[in-house]
Amino acid sequence: MKRIFVTSKLPGNFLDPLTHDFIVEVCKEVGNPTQKEISDGVESAHAIISTVSDQIDKNIIDAGENLVIVSNYGVGYDNIDIPYATQKGIFVTNTPGVLTETTADLVWALMLAVSRRIVEGDSYVREGRFQGWNLTLLLGLNIYGKTLGIYGLGRIGRAVARRATGFNMRVIYNNRNRYVEAERETGGTYVDFPTLLKESHFLIITAPLNSETRGRFGLGEFKKMRSDAVLVNTGRGPIIRERELAKALREKIIWGAGLDVYEREPEVETELLSLENVVLLPHLGSATRETREKMSEMAVENVRLALSGKVPINLVNPEVLKIRT
Ligand code: DGY
Repeated sequence: MKRIFVTSKLPGNFLDPLTHDFIVEVCKEVGNPTQKEISDGVESAHAIISTVSDQIDKNIIDAGENLVIVSNYGVGYDNIDIPYATQKGIFVTNTPGVLTETTADLVWALMLAVSRRIVEGDSYVREGRFQGWNLTLLLGLNIYGKTLGIYGLGRIGRAVARRATGFNMRVIYNNRNRYVEAERETGGTYVDFPTLLKESHFLIITAPLNSETRGRFGLGEFKKMRSDAVLVNTGRGPIIRERELAKALREKIIWGAGLDVYEREPEVETELLSLENVVLLPHLGSATRETREKMSEMAVENVRLALSGKVPINLVNPEVLKIRT
């Protein structure tokens, strides 16, 4: 029987039907596996279901001599050495679409939390410091009627933009390419990168990590932003140079930030931990019960198809088809 190695327990019972035809091994019931555990587990496996925090690098791929598919649980796949997997004839799949709206909701949660100082307010009450309504207590910023700037107008960026209608916002975006259909859908306008920096009150990063986006936001960029700007990142951590962001927040070069992802995840730049004008989340973009179950279903289905000799639906390396034929 073919073997499926699952690095972390999946929400839902979607693996159960596969146990009739395959040997299914789940590495971690709780927490994340080490690279050594992944490498040991992938030996003799025909499929691996990995998460965005597992590094599927050359060593892991080489350890999995029988691998047919790396089914990644998540929309991003920068944790996988795609060229190497492709060269080895291995399918790589992801779970797009099902997490779009959930992640867009979290972007808005961060925008609201930072601009209305929700986390500070909560601590204030819990610490027993609330002495009654006060006219200058924890003053924040309006969202309504402001300019929302989106860096990376993919599925999630568009869903963020659609939500801006209710807040009567002007939407601008910068993307590798102009996206006319999405402009119609969201009412957004394409701007160049310097304009995005200069005019956004809320600058949202929903771009994937690649050679173009890595390190794109540093001190130079923060200095070009408005001093009352809020930066939110739910894309990938290394798009922001985190130490430089900490400096920009400390020196009030920008007003605030909301982060769900980190440059050296799960490590967080120490200085950020002591700043009040940043809200920090532990990579919760897609973290709702409903969405995580849909992601499980999709990741499992990709494996089922690949191990039945079919092409999985959410293939991210279609070039592999040439190598496999
Ligand atoms: C993804 O799917 O890439 C997300 O970051 C996981 O929530």
